[in-house]
Amino acid sequence: MKIVTIIGARPQFIKAAPFSEIFRKNNEEILVHTGQHYDKNMSDVFFEELRIPKPDYNLGVGSGSHGLQTGRMLEKIEELIVKEKPDGMLVYGDTNSTLAGALAASKLHISVFHVEAGLRSYNKLMPEEQNRILTDHLSDLLLCPTQTAVGNLKNEGITASVLNTGDIMYDVVLRNIEISQSRYSNGAWLEELREQNKNIPIFTENEYYLATIHRAENTDDQKKLFEIFSAFEKMDKPVILPIHPRTRKLINKLDINLENVTLIKPVGYLMMLYLTANAYMVVTDSGGLQKEAYFLKTPCTTLRDQTEWIETLDNDWNVLSSIDVNTILKTATRELDCLKYPQPMLFGDGKAADHICHAILKGGK
Ligand code: UD1
Ligand code: UDP
Repeated sequence: MKIVTIIGARPQFIKAAPFSEIFRKNNEEILVHTGQHYDKNMSDVFFEELRIPKPDYNLGVGSGSHGLQTGRMLEKIEELIVKEKPDGMLVYGDTNSTLAGALAASKLHISVFHVEAGLRSYNKLMPEEQNRILTDHLSDLLLCPTQTAVGNLKNEGITASVLNTGDIMYDVVLRNIEISQSRYSNGAWLEELREQNKNIPIFTENEYYLATIHRAENTDDQKKLFEIFSAFEKMDKPVILPIHPRTRKLINKLDINLENVTLIKPVGYLMMLYLTANAYMVVTDSGGLQKEAYFLKTPCTTLRDQTEWIETLDNDWNVLSSIDVNTILKTATRELDCLKYPQPMLFGDGKAADHICHAILKGGK
């Protein structure tokens, strides 16, 4: 079987790693990087660390408004589908790259396989919610990470070709956590952070918050961004924050002096796993990081009013916080009763990539 796989943003590179390895053993995969993320530390580092095959195409679309970015991708993906004539199109998640891939394939009557189908925040103002609803409704095979996602699709009348495969990000964590621990233990993590960034103070494992912020709803509103960083400044432990380029640009406009927060460049996946596993708590608006915190038994505070990953809220492993200084501080300094409870594992058996591969080979037109 020959498929085209579309990736373009950081979390999609990570998700693609285990599937590409398995699928390529007996099949042909044309890997297409849209160029949505292009900085070395937002793209190349993941291909190197996770040994993702070199993309067959890089569309070089880059940044831009939603319409411009999605439109450029659509045009280029359509051209390459016509040229490559695949049996199916694989898309991951909920970015503009996802939607462009699904739409281009669907219009050319190519089967669409959607990994991470069925997630919903029920907040239609989020670009990701728009992308995932449209992609799900265009898809021929809906590969869900959880039973909740299967239920969400059922509520929208989608029941055919829906499968709970487990979460492919769980596969990636299981495959890489030991590699990460052996690479970065005994202080090697701090050495590498110092090599790559200026002014890194002394951090102690389990005595720092790991924070990431990039969601449009938090970054594009200066008042919200100010509240978030003001809260970080008042935290009872230092905050390490690998800063997304979107946030880096916007934070320069904030009138705030950062002392408790150490901004570092975006890190590779193995470093991120180490930082997550050894944090006192993760504070984030990322989708993927909420789950990684859960998989690695690190409590999490999510700086949003909704999450698509509601399983992580059980026993307060993850707690949502609205965006004001006091609520963020209260949530992040809560008693960590969650540590007393076992975690039900609701994200599959760590072999989602195998299940996805099997389903595609059975279900592709
Ligand atoms: C995108 C996804 C979001 C996902 C996130 C993962 C959409 C609508 N959003 O958000 O769902 O959670 O990726 O990280 O698809 N930039 C750079 N260098 C890069 C990439 C981006 O400087 O390599 C800057 C540009 O100024 C760009 C901005 O970041 O305009 C935002 O990038 P974009 O890809 O549009 O959205 P993300 O916020 O990254
Ligand atoms: N990540 C990383 N380096 C960083 C920040 C995040 O490797 O500096 C990883 C993180 O561990 C997770 C993924 O990127 O696997 C999440 O991506 P992001 O938060 O950008 O997107 P989202 O999951 O919210 O779509």
